Amino acid sequence: MKVAGVVRPPGDKSISHRVLMLAALARGQCALTGLLTSEDVRSSARVLRQLGAKISTVREGVVTRVSHAPLTTPHARLNCGNSGTTARLMLGILAGQRFAATLTGDASLRRRPMRRVTEPLKQMGARIEERGDGLPLTIHGGRLRGLVYTSPVASAQVKSALLLAGLTGGVPVTIREPYRSRDHTERLFAHLGLAIHEHDSVISYQPSAISVPPFEISVAGDTSSAAFLVAAAVLAEQGELLVENVGVNPTRTGYLVVLQRMGARVDRVNLRDEGGEPVADVIAKPAHLSATEVSAAEIPTLVDEVPILAVLASRAKGETVFREVGELRVKESNRLELVAANLRAVGVRAEARGNDLHVEGSDRPPRGKVDTAADHRLAMAFAVLGTVPGADIRLSERRSVAISYPTFFKDLKRILR
Ligand code: S3P
Repeated sequence: MKVAGVVRPPGDKSISHRVLMLAALARGQCALTGLLTSEDVRSSARVLRQLGAKISTVREGVVTRVSHAPLTTPHARLNCGNSGTTARLMLGILAGQRFAATLTGDASLRRRPMRRVTEPLKQMGARIEERGDGLPLTIHGGRLRGLVYTSPVASAQVKSALLLAGLTGGVPVTIREPYRSRDHTERLFAHLGLAIHEHDSVISYQPSAISVPPFEISVAGDTSSAAFLVAAAVLAEQGELLVENVGVNPTRTGYLVVLQRMGARVDRVNLRDEGGEPVADVIAKPAHLSATEVSAAEIPTLVDEVPILAVLASRAKGETVFREVGELRVKESNRLELVAANLRAVGVRAEARGNDLHVEGSDRPPRGKVDTAADHRLAMAFAVLGTVPGADIRLSERRSVAISYPTFFKDLKRILR
């Protein structure tokens, strides 16, 4: 297989959710360029509209405009679809509103833990009716008090929900997390002139008289979507791929660090800034990979890239170990067990031992049926494995890629020959 060409990944999913939400809270018109137009981001737009936000169309190549309108009581349940980011960050926003709202989601989202967010929000004074550790649940927002919180999980969704509650409730919030998770919310707050500070890995937000000002922003390409294209280039036999306009925030690019350690040839060029976020073009070339150990401290910087890194590890020399990846059990699917089981299904030795994932590299062509469990990142990771010479991989479905990367199969086909 030869890799060639230039490709632009779709807009960053994490940043797209955040700019939509902050624009809905802004005191004036906002213009958002380069938003991801996937199902997850549409879930955030839909939920915000149900709350009265005035958001124009979210469509590829179109600037989305958000005009000022106060959030009000929704007439129906807020359906967050498959999107954990929508559910958790909206809980933070709703905690500071003086009305009640009920959130729900699809079968996958309803299984995902919400207490990690509802517990600290209750400490801030939100009243929450929940039936277990998940959706549906009803939140009664209102007068909040400040919070000093040590999160047991390194989760950007927990951190962001609490910062958004501090913002909408007008109270100070201080958060410590075990390892630094993605910091897009902090960067956006700082970019918008809100009082956010980090000192010794402790993040604090101090409310001020200034509310969210109207803003214009351009969202860079999603590095987590780019990771699948980079991986396809690394597994190719010859050629070179240029991936343009990729976010390279260091809290997201752990996969590039690990790939380089495995012997991959990936370079960042043309480094620039976009709305407080570092952005670059990435050049990726084919390489022979060797196994590595991915430490617990690295995991938050590549948490969504474990499936594709595990696929790459299955083509590397030796055994790769991912330490402390238990969080993968509560993603869109049980990614820890499903990555291991699907690798085994295509002839690779792989196993979850406790919270660690072990993958033994092999150069035999991978063949077999893969159960994606409707998880977009499993579908994309195993589709990339299906591009190696002699592979015969049948995916149980392909439509889940619409969650984060609607044109994935088209782009993958275009860069390989
Ligand atoms: C996200 C944070 C991560 C990540 C998810 C998006 C975000 O989840 O897995 O895809 O936008 O904040 P956690 O914060 O739960 O680790």
